Amino acid sequence: MSAAVVTVAQQKGGCGKTTMVAQLAVTLAQEGLRVACLDIDPQGTLASWGALRGEADRRWPVTIEVAQGWKLKLAIDQLVRAHDVVVVDSPPHAATESRTAIRAASLVLVPCQPSLLDVWASGATIELAEAERRPAAVVWNRVPPRGRIIDEAVTALAERGHGSLPVGLGNRSAFAQSMHRGAGVIETEPRGRAAAETLALAEAVRARL
Ligand SMILES: Nc1ncnc2c1ncn2[C@@H]1O[C@H](COP(=O)(O)OP(=O)(O)OP(=O)(O)O)[C@@H](O)[C@H]1O
Ligand SMILES: [Mg+2]
Repeated sequence: MSAAVVTVAQQKGGCGKTTMVAQLAVTLAQEGLRVACLDIDPQGTLASWGALRGEADRRWPVTIEVAQGWKLKLAIDQLVRAHDVVVVDSPPHAATESRTAIRAASLVLVPCQPSLLDVWASGATIELAEAERRPAAVVWNRVPPRGRIIDEAVTALAERGHGSLPVGLGNRSAFAQSMHRGAGVIETEPRGRAAAETLALAEAVRARL
């Protein structure tokens, strides 16, 4: 796999961008890739997770940087040179930064909770990726075990002509708990369902790079 940029973007707040970036980054690092995360969200949530990770002295190395404005493109270019994968965490709005990160992406992941409100919001990010001719896919997040709600959301997305990855993340407290420890679920609960979902997500992402 050549050096890749995976941009996680979605204008809707709280859909799971930062969670997905952190989980994906740790999983790919555990698989032996040189992984960097770039936090371009002024909220700095991913950077806070990174600070916790540094204090906890976790086994799998993940480089964590922050960048905004004109420094963003430069930061991506520098990280790409020294890593196999750069995972970018974007802010919850269609800022200039998000557009730059989408333009630099090999793949754009759009986390989406199984609700029509999230599906509607995802369209804007997918269309931004299409305008930049970058491949984009919705990743379902906080998916309930079963039920009509996820079926309706999948149908609504398909009706808009947008695709989703065949794997998603369930609604599991393990994800939030691992974030509180500067970790990924692959480290805190490696035999749990959340870890299995994260591994499947990493595999689906690698298959598209
Ligand atoms: N799969 C999941 N299962 C359970 N909780 C989750 C899951 N994904 C995210 N969360 C929780 O949802 C909240 C929002 O997640 P997160 O911060 O990752 O979203 P975000 O899209 O980055 O938000 P923002 O738009 O503010 O940057 C957090 O409390 C997080 O722990
Ligand atoms: Mg976030």
